[in-house]
Amino acid sequence: MTVDLSSKIQNTQFKNLFLNASGIHCQSKKELEELMNDHYSGGLVTKSATPNSRFGNPLPRYHSLPAGSINSMGLPNEGFQFYLDYVTHSNIQKPTILSIAGMSKEEDLELLHQIQDSKYQGLTELNLSCPNVIGKPQMAYDFASSNQMLKEIFAFFKKPLGIKLPPYFDLVHFDKIAKILNQYPLSHVNTINSIGNGMWVDVEKESVVLKPKGGFGGIGGAIALPTALANVRALRQRLNASINIIGTGGVTSGKDAFAHVLCGANMVSIGTQLYEEGLGAFQRINNELIEIMKAKGYHSLDDFRGKLKEQ
Ligand code: SIN
Repeated sequence: MTVDLSSKIQNTQFKNLFLNASGIHCQSKKELEELMNDHYSGGLVTKSATPNSRFGNPLPRYHSLPAGSINSMGLPNEGFQFYLDYVTHSNIQKPTILSIAGMSKEEDLELLHQIQDSKYQGLTELNLSCPNVIGKPQMAYDFASSNQMLKEIFAFFKKPLGIKLPPYFDLVHFDKIAKILNQYPLSHVNTINSIGNGMWVDVEKESVVLKPKGGFGGIGGAIALPTALANVRALRQRLNASINIIGTGGVTSGKDAFAHVLCGANMVSIGTQLYEEGLGAFQRINNELIEIMKAKGYHSLDDFRGKLKEQ
């Protein structure tokens, strides 16, 4: 029995549904090349770029947890031009998602103008949800500002654009953000970013485990799966069908990827597990998903996407 893992975001066709989460294995040229050459990921997401390169937050800024991770990276990246050059000049063999994260609305608009004026034809993703930059709020929690920003963006931006969202925890908030997003021709939303401002305590040392922000950091990995699934599901139930969903959060196995698709994800991105296991995670999770689909008699993702049953 053949199984087809191909998927689409708007008109962009991916040979399979798997992506790296932005920030994982996608900062340097070497990492991007390794991702580009990996046979088992369908596309490539670049590290969220700021106008200028950044070292990011002081170390230690990543810590493995028993069931996931906590990080406060602070957007370390090579600067916007580096990533724009990469996605427009390199030997591109798979679809790309150019992720950007200006430090202010003005910076976001400026970066989007540059993309609009460039020859880049791939997908762009505006990260409105990084919890780790000191003094920079997670914009997507401010509904009025997000709406205003999208209004200004779509007055000039005509290329495919998605948004990286933080997790929401209240059904009213899902209603509110979906009502805003549905007014715009977004290609996709990517849900979720890490669960912001968690904390882990090293009891032996009686200390936090991260240096930045007094130890507060974004929670990812297996522990984030229920929150991620809830966000994919709640948004799929509310967003226009034309807005596709990249499910991110807590994927460590083919079973987790299957659950994301069942909740409505078009694509699935992998963060903590990719960081911990390396690029081999793509092949393993691909194979596990194929086995599950074969066992259930599913030929394509459309056979079960969004078809989660209620009790
Ligand atoms: C970071 O660089 O702090 C993580 C990226 C993000 O949360 O958007």
